[in-house]
Amino acid sequence: MSSDFSANRTEPVFQLKGVRYLYNGRQIALDGIDLEVGRGEQLALLGANGSGKSTLLKLLDGIFGPNSGTMRALGRDIAAVASGLDSFRFHREVGLVFQDPDVQLFSATVFDDVAFGPLQLGLSQAEVRQRCDEALEIMEITHLARRAPFELSGGEKKRAAIASVLSLGPEVILLDEPTAALDPRSKWLLVSLIQKLGQAGKTIITATHELEIVPLIASRVIVLGENRQVLADGPARQVLEDTDLLVKANLIHPELHYLGHFQPSMG
Ligand SMILES: Nc1ncnc2c1ncn2[C@@H]1O[C@H](COP(=O)(O)OP(=O)(O)OP(=O)(O)O)[C@@H](O)[C@H]1O
Ligand SMILES: [Mg+2]
Repeated sequence: MSSDFSANRTEPVFQLKGVRYLYNGRQIALDGIDLEVGRGEQLALLGANGSGKSTLLKLLDGIFGPNSGTMRALGRDIAAVASGLDSFRFHREVGLVFQDPDVQLFSATVFDDVAFGPLQLGLSQAEVRQRCDEALEIMEITHLARRAPFELSGGEKKRAAIASVLSLGPEVILLDEPTAALDPRSKWLLVSLIQKLGQAGKTIITATHELEIVPLIASRVIVLGENRQVLADGPARQVLEDTDLLVKANLIHPELHYLGHFQPSMG
C-alpha cells in the first residue's frame, strides 16, 4: 500500500532538531533532542526510568507535538500531524505499541481490537479478515481472538496489542518495551518478529530495558540520559560495550549484572 508519506523516499523517516517536551507546561520530559532516523533502520532506545523513552515514542507517533524545536516525520511536520492534519493517513504508516497494553485494547474482543485499524482503511471484509488472521497467527494468539482483553494475562495482552498494530501493516513500527514481562518463548517470538520485519525493510524503534535483546533487534542504539538528552547514539555493539556509559545512564548496576552478557569490570 503506498501513500504520499511512503512515496517520499529521499527524506529521513524522522528528523528532530532541539526537540523539547514538557508535560503540563512545566515537567520536562525531553530537553533538546537531535535525532535523524533513516528508512529501514532498526534502533533500540535505551534509558533509565523517566528518561523520556515513552514520551519520545509518542512524539514520533504524532500523538503530541514538541513544545519547542522542529520535528518532521515521513516528510510531515509532526506538530501538524498532532493537531489532526492528515493524522489518519499518518497512522497507516506509523504504528506505536504502547508500553501499557490496556491503553491499546479497548474493544469487546481481541479480534475486534485487531480489526479496528483495517476496518478504518475501507478494505473489503475478506481483506480485513485476512489481515486479522495473519496478525493473530504471527503473535500466536488465534485461540484468544474471541476473548475480552480483560480476560487475558499480561503477556497475552501485550501480544494482542502488538497484533492490533501489525494488522495495519505500518512501514514504521514503534515498540515501547514490547518484551517486558514476557516469558522466554514469547520474548523470542517477538525478537524473531522484529528481525523479520527489519529484513522486510520496516523502520523499527524499540524502547527496552532488556539489554540482552538489543544486539538481536537493533544495529543502532540511542541512549537517553537522566537529563532527558541524548547521551549516546551509535552502533549497537559499540554502545553496549561502553560500561562507563551504561552505568552513567543507569542501564546496568554493578551489583545486579552478575549473570549476563555484560560483566562490567568495576573494582
Ligand atoms: N502524563 C504525564 N504527566 C506528567 N509527567 C509525565 C507524564 N508522563 C510522563 N511524565 C514524566 O515525563 C518524564 C519522562 O517519562 P517517560 O514515561 O517518557 O519515561 P520512560 O523513559 O518511558 O520511563 P520508563 O522506563 O519508566 O517507562 C518522567 O519524568 C515522567 O515522570
Ligand atoms: Mg516508558
